Amino acid sequence: MESTGNYELDHIMLTREAVRERVSEIAASISDEYRGEELIFTGVLKGAVIFMSDLVRSIDLSVDTRMDFIAVSSYGNEATSSGAVKLIKDMDTNIEGKNVIMVEDIMDTGLTLSYLREMLAARGPATFKTCVLLEKPDRKKIDSTMDYTGFAIPDKFVVGYGLDYAGKWRNLPDIWCVTKR
Ligand code: IMP
Ligand code: MG
Repeated sequence: MESTGNYELDHIMLTREAVRERVSEIAASISDEYRGEELIFTGVLKGAVIFMSDLVRSIDLSVDTRMDFIAVSSYGNEATSSGAVKLIKDMDTNIEGKNVIMVEDIMDTGLTLSYLREMLAARGPATFKTCVLLEKPDRKKIDSTMDYTGFAIPDKFVVGYGLDYAGKWRNLPDIWCVTKR
C-alpha cells in the first residue's frame, strides 16, 4: 500500500462481537496452559495495545499476569522486506527464566515478528510464545507459525482495534477494510 493517497473505510471485515469471542477463546487456551505460573505479556507498540488490553482482562486470575511493551519501527519503506526493525523502546523486564508471550496486532510478511522473536528468544526466557490477532497467509514470507492466532484474513489492508493506516483509525471498535477513494 502507498504511504500517500486518500483511503476511506469500506466495510467491516470483523465485528467487535466476533473479535471479543475469539479473544476470550485465546485467553482461555492461554489460561489453561499457564495456570499457577507467572506470564509476561509483551505487546508490540502501538498496534497491539487494544488487543492486549482485552486479552489480559480475560486471562484467568490464577495466572500471575504481567505486562510489558516493546516499540519498533521499520527502516523506511523497502526495509520492511528485510525485516530489519529499529528498536525504539525495549522491555523494562529481564525475561531470563520467565514465561513470555509476545503479542502483535497482525502478521503480514512475518518479518517483523521473526526479527523480534529472535531478539527476545536470545535473552533466555524459560518459554517463549507468540500471539497475533490477525494473520495474512497469502503474504507470508517466512516459514514460521504463531502459537496463538485470532483470525487468518485475505490480503486486504485493515484498520481498527489497534490497527492503523498512517496512525489513523486505531480506535475503531470493529476491524475494517479500507479502499482508495
Ligand atoms: P510484517 O513485518 O510484514 O509482518 O509487518 C507487520 C506490520 O505491518 C504490522 O505490525 C503492522 O504495523 C503493519 N501492517 C501489515 N498489514 C497491515 C494491515 O492490513 N493494517 C495495518 N497495519 C498492517
Ligand atoms: Mg504495527
